[in-house]
Amino acid sequence: MSEKSTETSATERLIQVLDALDARPAAARLRQRSYDLLRAEPGDRVIDVGCGTGLAAAELAARGVKSLGLDLDDRMIAEARRRHPDAEFQVADALRLPFGDGELTGYRAERVLHNLPDMPAALAEARRVLAPDGRIVLLGQDWDTFIIDSDDPDLTRTILHARANLVPNPRSARRYRALLLDAGFADVEAEVHTGVFTDPLMLPLIAGVAQAVRAAGAITEEQRAAWIAEQTHRARNDRLFVALPMFVAWARRP
Ligand SMILES: C[S@@+](CC[C@H](N)C(=O)[O-])C[C@H]1O[C@@H](n2cnc3c(N)ncnc32)[C@H](O)[C@@H]1O
Repeated sequence: MSEKSTETSATERLIQVLDALDARPAAARLRQRSYDLLRAEPGDRVIDVGCGTGLAAAELAARGVKSLGLDLDDRMIAEARRRHPDAEFQVADALRLPFGDGELTGYRAERVLHNLPDMPAALAEARRVLAPDGRIVLLGQDWDTFIIDSDDPDLTRTILHARANLVPNPRSARRYRALLLDAGFADVEAEVHTGVFTDPLMLPLIAGVAQAVRAAGAITEEQRAAWIAEQTHRARNDRLFVALPMFVAWARRP
């Protein structure tokens, strides 16, 4: 398999996971909360950084906001354009935003900062492009606070911590507030919304976690198989329980 097709399937897998999570009413409510926190009015210029398949940029545009979705992955941008032909999208790096100083009124980034090796640089860039009184909203999960019920809590802890360690900045979300303060933002606030998942549709996501950790060598194949067998049994008997805290932080550019 070529490197390009491997990358493509990684993007497709990510899209499947995001689609499954975004389909939940609680996810839609959280997106609406983020738009309210942006205080975006018709005509405001707002970017959704790391926009993925573009849902938030499209929903902001539907509110009359001049929104632009930006993503480093050109396949994500192609999919965003295909899904939302009336919204605007562009390939761009969170660390080098294609705007002059103070050009924008809003900056939003959902489930993005944990991917960035240099989060302070990304927030300095956010501050640069925002006008005075511009708003920033960050949302995302803290990869070290996943909760999965299991009869083998030690193995579960090993799996979840190993999965977290595969992420460049697994604990970025608990640091949003501090990062915004360090970047010189004002009126910084934060909250947490914990999603609860009991649907068997979560099983492929759980299996993906175990597979990634197995591939990284943190557990044996026997441990992976036993853990997935237990989670599958739970799913069949309506005993699956996953809780995922989503952190939200917002601030004003002084
Ligand atoms: C987990 S996805 C989240 C997508 C979308 N924000 C959502 O919540 O559905 C993370 C996205 O960030 C993008 N990304 C990663 N590093 C980036 C960077 N340096 N600049 C812009 N986008 C980036 C990825 O390509 C991916 O689409």
